[in-house]
Amino acid sequence: MDAHSTSTPAPLWLLAELTYRCPLHCAFCYNPVDFAQHDAELDTETWLRVIGEARKMGAAQIGFSGGEPLLRDDLETLVAHARGLGFYTNLITSGIGLNETRIADLKRAGLDHIQLSFQDSTRELNDFLTSTRTFERKQRVASLIKAHDYPMVLNCVLHRYNLPHVAQIIEMALEMGAEYLELANTQYYGWAMLNRAQLMPTAEQLREAEDIVNQYRARIGDRCRILFVVPDYFETRPKACMNGWGSVFLAVSPDGTALPCHAARSLPGLAFPNVRDTSLSDIWYASSGFNAYRGDAWMREPCRTCDERETDHGGCRCQAYLLTGDAAAADPVCAKSADHGKIEQAVKFARASASNTANKTEEQPLIFRSRENSVRF
Ligand code: FES
Repeated sequence: MDAHSTSTPAPLWLLAELTYRCPLHCAFCYNPVDFAQHDAELDTETWLRVIGEARKMGAAQIGFSGGEPLLRDDLETLVAHARGLGFYTNLITSGIGLNETRIADLKRAGLDHIQLSFQDSTRELNDFLTSTRTFERKQRVASLIKAHDYPMVLNCVLHRYNLPHVAQIIEMALEMGAEYLELANTQYYGWAMLNRAQLMPTAEQLREAEDIVNQYRARIGDRCRILFVVPDYFETRPKACMNGWGSVFLAVSPDGTALPCHAARSLPGLAFPNVRDTSLSDIWYASSGFNAYRGDAWMREPCRTCDERETDHGGCRCQAYLLTGDAAAADPVCAKSADHGKIEQAVKFARASASNTANKTEEQPLIFRSRENSVRF
Protein backbone atom coordinates (compact mmCIF):
# COMPACT_ATOMS: atom_id res chain seq x y z
CA MET A 1 0.00 0.00 0.00
CA ASP A 2 1.24 3.54 -0.71
CA ALA A 3 2.75 5.20 2.32
CA HIS A 4 1.43 8.66 1.56
CA SER A 5 1.98 11.47 4.02
CA THR A 6 -1.52 12.85 4.04
CA SER A 7 -4.70 12.58 6.03
CA THR A 8 -6.60 11.79 2.83
CA PRO A 9 -7.76 8.17 2.88
CA ALA A 10 -6.94 5.90 -0.04
CA PRO A 11 -9.59 5.22 -2.68
CA LEU A 12 -11.45 1.97 -2.04
CA TRP A 13 -13.33 1.66 -5.28
CA LEU A 14 -11.87 1.98 -8.78
CA LEU A 15 -14.34 2.30 -11.62
CA ALA A 16 -12.64 1.39 -14.87
CA GLU A 17 -14.80 2.85 -17.62
CA LEU A 18 -13.20 0.91 -20.41
CA THR A 19 -15.11 2.37 -23.34
CA TYR A 20 -17.93 4.72 -24.23
CA ARG A 21 -18.89 2.42 -27.10
CA CYS A 22 -22.18 0.71 -26.40
CA PRO A 23 -24.64 -1.35 -28.44
CA LEU A 24 -27.51 0.19 -26.46
CA HIS A 25 -28.81 3.74 -26.73
CA CYS A 26 -30.47 4.27 -23.35
CA ALA A 27 -32.20 7.57 -22.94
CA PHE A 28 -31.24 7.63 -19.23
CA CYS A 29 -27.54 6.83 -19.62
CA TYR A 30 -25.32 8.64 -17.11
CA ASN A 31 -22.39 8.89 -19.52
CA PRO A 32 -21.52 12.45 -20.55
CA VAL A 33 -23.56 13.70 -23.49
CA ASP A 34 -20.36 14.83 -25.22
CA PHE A 35 -18.68 11.42 -24.85
CA ALA A 36 -17.81 11.41 -28.56
CA GLN A 37 -15.21 14.08 -27.83
CA HIS A 38 -13.46 11.88 -25.27
CA ASP A 39 -13.49 8.42 -26.79
CA ALA A 40 -9.78 7.84 -27.55
CA GLU A 41 -9.45 4.68 -25.43
CA LEU A 42 -6.54 3.69 -23.21
CA ASP A 43 -4.61 0.68 -24.41
CA THR A 44 -4.25 -2.56 -22.50
CA GLU A 45 -0.79 -1.76 -21.12
CA THR A 46 -1.96 1.50 -19.61
CA TRP A 47 -5.00 -0.13 -18.00
CA LEU A 48 -2.79 -2.83 -16.51
CA ARG A 49 -0.53 -0.17 -15.00
CA VAL A 50 -3.47 1.87 -13.67
CA ILE A 51 -5.05 -1.19 -12.06
CA GLY A 52 -1.74 -2.00 -10.39
CA GLU A 53 -1.33 1.57 -9.13
CA ALA A 54 -4.85 1.61 -7.69
CA ARG A 55 -4.27 -1.67 -5.86
CA LYS A 56 -0.97 -0.39 -4.50
CA MET A 57 -2.78 2.65 -3.13
CA GLY A 58 -5.20 0.37 -1.29
CA ALA A 59 -8.22 0.10 -3.59
CA ALA A 60 -10.08 -3.16 -2.92
CA GLN A 61 -12.92 -3.26 -5.45
CA ILE A 62 -12.84 -2.67 -9.18
CA GLY A 63 -15.82 -2.23 -11.46
CA PHE A 64 -15.43 -2.71 -15.19
CA SER A 65 -18.03 -0.60 -16.92
CA GLY A 66 -18.55 1.70 -19.87
CA GLY A 67 -20.35 2.02 -22.25
CA GLU A 68 -20.32 -1.71 -22.66
CA PRO A 69 -17.08 -3.19 -21.29
CA LEU A 70 -17.59 -6.44 -23.23
CA LEU A 71 -16.74 -4.49 -26.38
CA ARG A 72 -13.12 -4.51 -25.18
CA ASP A 73 -11.50 -7.78 -26.19
CA ASP A 74 -8.88 -7.34 -23.46
CA LEU A 75 -11.52 -7.47 -20.72
CA GLU A 76 -10.48 -10.98 -19.66
CA THR A 77 -6.83 -9.88 -19.44
CA LEU A 78 -7.72 -6.90 -17.27
CA VAL A 79 -9.97 -8.97 -15.00
CA ALA A 80 -7.28 -11.62 -14.55
CA HIS A 81 -4.72 -8.95 -13.69
CA ALA A 82 -7.02 -7.25 -11.17
CA ARG A 83 -8.01 -10.56 -9.57
CA GLY A 84 -4.40 -11.62 -9.36
CA LEU A 85 -3.62 -8.45 -7.43
CA GLY A 86 -6.40 -9.21 -4.96
CA PHE A 87 -9.18 -6.93 -6.23
CA TYR A 88 -12.81 -7.98 -5.86
CA THR A 89 -13.87 -7.74 -9.50
CA ASN A 90 -17.26 -6.59 -10.82
CA LEU A 91 -18.56 -6.49 -14.36
CA ILE A 92 -21.31 -3.95 -14.97
CA THR A 93 -22.92 -4.89 -18.25
CA SER A 94 -25.92 -4.78 -20.54
CA GLY A 95 -25.08 -8.43 -21.26
CA ILE A 96 -24.80 -7.81 -25.00
CA GLY A 97 -21.68 -9.65 -26.13
CA LEU A 98 -21.65 -12.12 -23.26
CA ASN A 99 -21.73 -15.61 -24.69
CA GLU A 100 -20.73 -19.08 -23.47
CA THR A 101 -17.08 -18.62 -24.46
CA ARG A 102 -16.64 -15.23 -22.89
CA ILE A 103 -18.34 -16.02 -19.62
CA ALA A 104 -16.24 -19.18 -19.28
CA ASP A 105 -13.10 -17.12 -19.98
CA LEU A 106 -14.16 -14.47 -17.49
CA LYS A 107 -14.81 -17.13 -14.88
CA ARG A 108 -11.33 -18.55 -15.49
CA ALA A 109 -9.91 -15.03 -15.20
CA GLY A 110 -11.41 -14.86 -11.72
CA LEU A 111 -14.34 -12.49 -12.27
CA ASP A 112 -16.26 -12.36 -8.97
CA HIS A 113 -19.49 -10.61 -9.80
CA ILE A 114 -21.70 -9.66 -12.74
CA GLN A 115 -24.39 -6.99 -12.64
CA LEU A 116 -26.78 -7.33 -15.54
CA SER A 117 -29.04 -4.48 -16.56
CA PHE A 118 -32.60 -4.82 -17.80
CA GLN A 119 -34.68 -1.84 -18.78
CA ASP A 120 -38.12 -3.34 -18.22
CA SER A 121 -40.05 -6.59 -17.84
CA THR A 122 -41.52 -6.26 -21.31
CA ARG A 123 -39.75 -6.64 -24.61
CA GLU A 124 -41.64 -3.65 -25.99
CA LEU A 125 -40.45 -1.14 -23.39
CA ASN A 126 -36.98 -2.67 -22.90
CA ASP A 127 -36.35 -2.34 -26.61
CA PHE A 128 -37.94 1.10 -26.90
CA LEU A 129 -35.84 2.58 -24.08
CA THR A 130 -32.59 1.19 -25.50
CA SER A 131 -33.53 1.73 -29.13
CA THR A 132 -32.45 -1.86 -29.82
CA ARG A 133 -33.84 -5.38 -29.99
CA THR A 134 -32.05 -6.88 -27.03
CA PHE A 135 -34.67 -8.18 -24.58
CA GLU A 136 -34.39 -11.86 -25.52
CA ARG A 137 -30.60 -11.69 -25.64
CA LYS A 138 -30.56 -10.32 -22.11
CA GLN A 139 -32.78 -13.19 -21.01
CA ARG A 140 -30.31 -15.66 -22.50
CA VAL A 141 -27.44 -13.90 -20.73
CA ALA A 142 -29.31 -14.14 -17.42
CA SER A 143 -29.46 -17.94 -17.91
CA LEU A 144 -25.75 -18.04 -18.71
CA ILE A 145 -24.93 -16.14 -15.53
CA LYS A 146 -26.92 -18.67 -13.50
CA ALA A 147 -25.38 -21.60 -15.35
CA HIS A 148 -21.91 -20.36 -14.46
CA ASP A 149 -22.78 -20.09 -10.77
CA TYR A 150 -22.62 -16.37 -10.45
CA PRO A 151 -24.96 -14.66 -8.01
CA MET A 152 -27.74 -13.20 -10.14
CA VAL A 153 -27.64 -9.44 -9.68
CA LEU A 154 -30.11 -7.54 -11.80
CA ASN A 155 -30.29 -3.80 -12.15
CA CYS A 156 -33.19 -1.86 -13.56
CA VAL A 157 -33.22 1.92 -13.79
CA LEU A 158 -36.68 3.24 -12.98
CA HIS A 159 -38.52 6.27 -14.36
CA ARG A 160 -41.96 7.29 -15.46
CA TYR A 161 -42.23 4.67 -18.20
CA ASN A 162 -41.47 1.54 -16.21
CA LEU A 163 -42.48 2.44 -12.64
CA PRO A 164 -45.98 1.06 -13.29
CA HIS A 165 -44.30 -2.30 -14.09
CA VAL A 166 -42.43 -2.68 -10.82
CA ALA A 167 -44.38 -5.79 -9.77
CA GLN A 168 -43.69 -7.43 -13.14
CA ILE A 169 -40.01 -6.48 -12.98
CA ILE A 170 -39.75 -8.14 -9.57
CA GLU A 171 -41.59 -11.22 -10.89
CA MET A 172 -39.16 -11.38 -13.82
CA ALA A 173 -36.21 -11.19 -11.43
CA LEU A 174 -37.66 -13.97 -9.27
CA GLU A 175 -38.27 -16.19 -12.30
CA MET A 176 -34.66 -15.67 -13.34
CA GLY A 177 -33.51 -16.68 -9.87
CA ALA A 178 -32.07 -13.28 -9.00
CA GLU A 179 -30.52 -13.02 -5.57
CA TYR A 180 -30.33 -9.23 -5.77
CA LEU A 181 -32.47 -6.73 -7.61
CA GLU A 182 -31.43 -3.12 -7.69
CA LEU A 183 -34.31 -0.84 -8.60
CA ALA A 184 -32.51 2.45 -9.02
CA ASN A 185 -34.61 5.46 -9.84
CA THR A 186 -33.03 7.65 -12.49
CA GLN A 187 -30.51 10.21 -11.33
CA TYR A 188 -30.46 13.23 -13.59
CA TYR A 189 -27.01 13.47 -15.15
CA GLY A 190 -25.78 13.00 -18.71
CA TRP A 191 -28.45 11.77 -21.09
CA ALA A 192 -30.99 11.43 -18.29
CA MET A 193 -30.69 15.18 -17.64
CA LEU A 194 -31.41 15.86 -21.31
CA ASN A 195 -34.54 13.73 -21.03
CA ARG A 196 -35.48 14.76 -17.50
CA ALA A 197 -38.94 16.10 -18.26
CA GLN A 198 -39.90 12.82 -19.95
CA LEU A 199 -38.33 10.48 -17.41
CA MET A 200 -39.40 12.17 -14.18
CA PRO A 201 -42.04 10.11 -12.38
CA THR A 202 -44.91 11.45 -10.36
CA ALA A 203 -44.89 11.23 -6.57
CA GLU A 204 -47.88 8.88 -6.84
CA GLN A 205 -45.98 6.50 -9.11
CA LEU A 206 -43.11 6.41 -6.66
CA ARG A 207 -45.32 5.82 -3.66
CA GLU A 208 -47.14 2.97 -5.38
CA ALA A 209 -43.90 1.39 -6.55
CA GLU A 210 -42.34 1.58 -3.10
CA ASP A 211 -45.47 0.02 -1.57
CA ILE A 212 -45.22 -2.85 -4.03
CA VAL A 213 -41.54 -3.32 -3.26
CA ASN A 214 -42.29 -3.45 0.46
CA GLN A 215 -45.06 -6.01 -0.07
CA TYR A 216 -42.66 -8.22 -2.03
CA ARG A 217 -39.93 -7.80 0.57
CA ALA A 218 -42.32 -9.00 3.27
CA ARG A 219 -43.44 -11.94 1.13
CA ILE A 220 -40.15 -13.22 -0.27
CA GLY A 221 -37.79 -12.47 2.60
CA ASP A 222 -34.16 -13.28 1.79
CA ARG A 223 -34.95 -15.16 -1.42
CA CYS A 224 -34.16 -11.99 -3.34
CA ARG A 225 -32.92 -8.78 -1.75
CA ILE A 226 -34.56 -5.77 -3.37
CA LEU A 227 -32.89 -2.40 -3.21
CA PHE A 228 -35.13 0.54 -4.04
CA VAL A 229 -33.20 3.77 -4.57
CA VAL A 230 -35.51 6.76 -4.29
CA PRO A 231 -34.82 9.65 -6.70
CA ASP A 232 -33.35 12.54 -4.78
CA TYR A 233 -35.60 15.10 -6.51
CA PHE A 234 -38.33 13.85 -4.19
CA GLU A 235 -36.26 14.28 -1.04
CA THR A 236 -35.55 17.30 1.13
CA ARG A 237 -32.03 16.29 2.11
CA PRO A 238 -29.30 15.54 -0.43
CA LYS A 239 -27.62 12.22 -0.99
CA ALA A 240 -24.04 11.79 0.21
CA CYS A 241 -22.85 11.69 -3.37
CA MET A 242 -19.82 9.39 -3.83
CA ASN A 243 -19.71 9.32 -0.03
CA GLY A 244 -17.93 12.65 -0.31
CA TRP A 245 -15.80 14.05 -3.13
CA GLY A 246 -12.43 12.32 -3.43
CA SER A 247 -13.24 10.13 -0.46
CA VAL A 248 -13.59 6.51 -1.62
CA PHE A 249 -14.42 6.57 -5.33
CA LEU A 250 -12.06 7.00 -8.26
CA ALA A 251 -13.24 6.68 -11.85
CA VAL A 252 -10.94 6.43 -14.83
CA SER A 253 -12.79 7.29 -18.02
CA PRO A 254 -12.09 5.62 -21.37
CA ASP A 255 -9.64 8.30 -22.51
CA GLY A 256 -7.71 8.11 -19.23
CA THR A 257 -9.10 11.18 -17.49
CA ALA A 258 -9.35 10.40 -13.77
CA LEU A 259 -12.50 11.71 -12.10
CA PRO A 260 -13.98 11.77 -8.58
CA CYS A 261 -17.41 10.89 -10.02
CA HIS A 262 -18.96 10.06 -13.39
CA ALA A 263 -20.14 13.58 -14.10
CA ALA A 264 -17.27 15.73 -12.83
CA ARG A 265 -15.84 16.39 -16.26
CA SER A 266 -18.71 18.79 -16.91
CA LEU A 267 -17.68 21.10 -14.04
CA PRO A 268 -15.95 24.22 -15.37
CA GLY A 269 -12.66 25.46 -13.99
CA LEU A 270 -11.46 22.09 -12.71
CA ALA A 271 -8.48 20.27 -14.18
CA PHE A 272 -8.53 16.50 -13.98
CA PRO A 273 -5.24 14.85 -14.93
CA ASN A 274 -4.95 11.94 -17.31
CA VAL A 275 -3.46 8.62 -16.23
CA ARG A 276 -1.43 8.61 -19.46
CA ASP A 277 0.86 11.24 -17.99
CA THR A 278 0.28 11.42 -14.22
CA SER A 279 0.43 8.66 -11.65
CA LEU A 280 -2.86 7.67 -10.04
CA SER A 281 -1.40 8.50 -6.63
CA ASP A 282 -0.50 12.04 -7.65
CA ILE A 283 -3.93 12.48 -9.19
CA TRP A 284 -5.74 11.25 -6.09
CA TYR A 285 -3.72 13.05 -3.45
CA ALA A 286 -2.33 16.14 -5.16
CA SER A 287 -4.46 17.22 -8.13
CA SER A 288 -6.48 20.41 -7.74
CA GLY A 289 -9.55 18.68 -9.23
CA PHE A 290 -9.63 15.92 -6.61
CA ASN A 291 -8.95 18.38 -3.79
CA ALA A 292 -11.48 20.99 -4.91
CA TYR A 293 -14.40 19.69 -2.82
CA ARG A 294 -12.71 17.34 -0.38
CA GLY A 295 -13.68 17.78 3.25
CA ASP A 296 -15.77 20.82 4.14
CA ALA A 297 -13.46 23.83 3.79
CA TRP A 298 -15.09 24.71 0.44
CA MET A 299 -18.58 24.90 1.91
CA ARG A 300 -20.61 28.07 2.14
CA GLU A 301 -23.87 28.64 3.96
CA PRO A 302 -26.17 26.85 4.53
CA CYS A 303 -23.78 23.85 4.38
CA ARG A 304 -20.93 25.41 6.37
CA THR A 305 -22.82 25.49 9.68
CA CYS A 306 -25.24 22.63 8.96
CA ASP A 307 -25.08 19.86 11.52
CA GLU A 308 -25.71 17.29 8.77
CA ARG A 309 -22.68 18.27 6.69
CA GLU A 310 -20.64 15.28 7.82
CA THR A 311 -23.46 12.97 6.78
CA ASP A 312 -24.31 14.32 3.34
CA HIS A 313 -21.06 16.20 2.54
CA GLY A 314 -23.14 19.00 1.02
CA GLY A 315 -24.79 16.63 -1.48
CA CYS A 316 -23.74 16.43 -5.10
CA ARG A 317 -21.37 18.97 -6.67
CA CYS A 318 -22.41 18.06 -10.19
CA GLN A 319 -26.10 18.47 -9.41
CA ALA A 320 -25.38 21.82 -7.73
CA TYR A 321 -23.62 22.97 -10.89
CA LEU A 322 -26.22 21.58 -13.28
CA LEU A 323 -29.07 23.30 -11.46
CA THR A 324 -27.50 26.52 -10.16
CA GLY A 325 -24.42 27.08 -12.34
CA ASP A 326 -22.27 27.03 -9.16
CA ALA A 327 -20.60 23.77 -8.14
CA ALA A 328 -19.87 25.10 -4.62
CA ALA A 329 -23.52 25.87 -3.91
CA ALA A 330 -25.62 23.64 -1.67
CA ASP A 331 -27.22 20.79 -3.59
CA PRO A 332 -30.68 22.18 -4.48
CA VAL A 333 -32.24 18.91 -3.36
CA CYS A 334 -31.74 20.24 0.17
CA ALA A 335 -34.74 22.17 1.47
CA LYS A 336 -32.26 24.57 3.12
CA SER A 337 -30.91 25.57 -0.30
CA ALA A 338 -32.08 28.89 -1.71
CA ASP A 339 -32.44 27.02 -5.02
CA HIS A 340 -34.65 24.20 -3.76
CA GLY A 341 -37.50 25.70 -5.80
CA LYS A 342 -35.66 24.58 -8.96
CA ILE A 343 -36.14 20.96 -7.92
CA GLU A 344 -39.81 21.54 -7.16
CA GLN A 345 -40.24 23.27 -10.52
CA ALA A 346 -38.64 20.37 -12.39
CA VAL A 347 -40.99 17.89 -10.73
CA LYS A 348 -44.01 20.11 -11.37
CA PHE A 349 -43.07 20.67 -15.01
CA ALA A 350 -42.60 16.94 -15.55
CA ARG A 351 -46.00 16.23 -14.03
CA ALA A 352 -47.63 18.68 -16.43
CA SER A 353 -45.90 17.13 -19.41
CA ALA A 354 -46.80 13.62 -18.18
CA SER A 355 -50.48 14.37 -18.33
CA ASN A 356 -50.09 15.43 -21.96
CA THR A 357 -48.16 12.40 -23.12
CA ALA A 358 -48.98 9.43 -20.88
CA ASN A 359 -48.76 6.00 -22.50
CA LYS A 360 -47.72 7.25 -25.92
CA THR A 361 -44.11 6.20 -25.83
CA GLU A 362 -43.71 6.37 -29.57
CA GLU A 363 -44.52 10.08 -29.44
CA GLN A 364 -41.97 11.00 -26.76
CA PRO A 365 -39.21 13.30 -27.93
CA LEU A 366 -36.58 11.31 -26.05
CA ILE A 367 -32.99 11.93 -27.10
CA PHE A 368 -31.32 8.53 -27.27
CA ARG A 369 -27.66 8.04 -26.44
CA SER A 370 -25.75 7.69 -29.66
CA ARG A 371 -22.53 8.87 -31.20
CA GLU A 372 -24.49 10.88 -33.76
CA ASN A 373 -26.38 12.71 -31.02
CA SER A 374 -23.23 13.09 -28.92
CA VAL A 375 -21.30 14.98 -31.57
CA ARG A 376 -23.94 17.70 -31.36
CA PHE A 377 -22.84 18.59 -27.82
FE1 FES B 1 -20.43 14.44 -9.34
FE2 FES B 1 -22.33 13.87 -7.51
S1 FES B 1 -22.20 13.15 -9.57
S2 FES B 1 -20.45 14.93 -7.23
